[in-house]
Amino acid sequence: MNGFKNNYCLKNLNSFGVNAKSKFFKSFSSENDLVEIMSSKTFEENKILILGGGSNILFTKNFDGLILQNKINLISIIDEDDLTTTVEVGGGVNWHDFVLWSVNRNLSGIENLALIPGSVGASPVQNIGAYGMEVKDTITKVHTFDIAQGTKKIFNNKQCKFNYRDSIFKSELKNKKVITKVEFKLSKTALNIISYGNIEKELKKDPSPMNIAELIIKIRQQKLPDPIKIGNSGSFFKNPVISLLKFKKIKKKFPEIISYKVTENKIKIAAGWLIEDSGLKGHREGDAGVHKNQALVLVNHGKSTGKEILSLSNMIKDVIFKKYDVMLETEVNII
Ligand code: EPU
Repeated sequence: MNGFKNNYCLKNLNSFGVNAKSKFFKSFSSENDLVEIMSSKTFEENKILILGGGSNILFTKNFDGLILQNKINLISIIDEDDLTTTVEVGGGVNWHDFVLWSVNRNLSGIENLALIPGSVGASPVQNIGAYGMEVKDTITKVHTFDIAQGTKKIFNNKQCKFNYRDSIFKSELKNKKVITKVEFKLSKTALNIISYGNIEKELKKDPSPMNIAELIIKIRQQKLPDPIKIGNSGSFFKNPVISLLKFKKIKKKFPEIISYKVTENKIKIAAGWLIEDSGLKGHREGDAGVHKNQALVLVNHGKSTGKEILSLSNMIKDVIFKKYDVMLETEVNII
């Protein structure tokens, strides 16, 4: 195995496209590679950060440790019955490539998650979701290595403690596990999840996984900035979930607020609406900005630093808190 790279530039490894360096860097293409890395001195002596597609991370400074990038690149069918196909996918596979792989085989379960940037290994961490679908509903197992012990553990779906944009890998086990592979159970019949927003109205063809994925790709391309052209990491904040009582108070003052019922007593409110209603959509401070079409997305117009994007996000949090008494939580990992 080759050595570790030193003082490694991360600009092309984070979708915000901000400049930062890592003291050490190494990628791995198999579980064996990882085991070998884990027995090295560099691994033992440094703090570790696992990088997937770099699409949900904001570097506000250089990383004084070892960054490991998962490049395990396999997709294999491991089980099949009349109704389902179970697939094992390497954490290094690009998420959208896996969605295309599935819809090309007419398999259903992740088609609404087309064009979400990032890697398969990162998908369970924040339980990626869009247009009425969440990855927690197809994941059956997550293969991991413990960073401190080097031991292997396979988590079943329940053990992952999935929640809205959350899992055990983002909470109690944050930065403690390397996700090497993920297993998904996909359906041979179309799940037909089209009730979100205008999907049903806009879907002019039958709701096959391919047709839904094509529509979602079109919608995302119209609304969300392409990280290749303009640095961003999708939604920067989560949609806050608040009590019904608090929601009623806010709604009295702001009757147009957009919300969704989560449970009898919990309401999710659209953070994008709050930001737009505060007049911050399209707002810019230097090269750090709020996207002009989707206020939940912060963008790097070119030369912004991670610190500048962070400071813009703090300003937004302040404005929203003062106006609506709601504290926004970041979805993106801040380093
Ligand atoms: N809205 C505004 N102004 C804005 C943005 C949104 O008024 O600038 C309103 C919209 O009109 C709509 C509502 O807010 O009525 C919800 O907007 P949208 O459908 O765009 O979804 P979102 O709640 O803002 C979430 C996810 C996205 C995902 C979309 C579609 C989170 C944090 N974000 O955004 O995920 O693509 O739903 O399902 O839950 C991501 O996580 O990176 C991401 C892009």
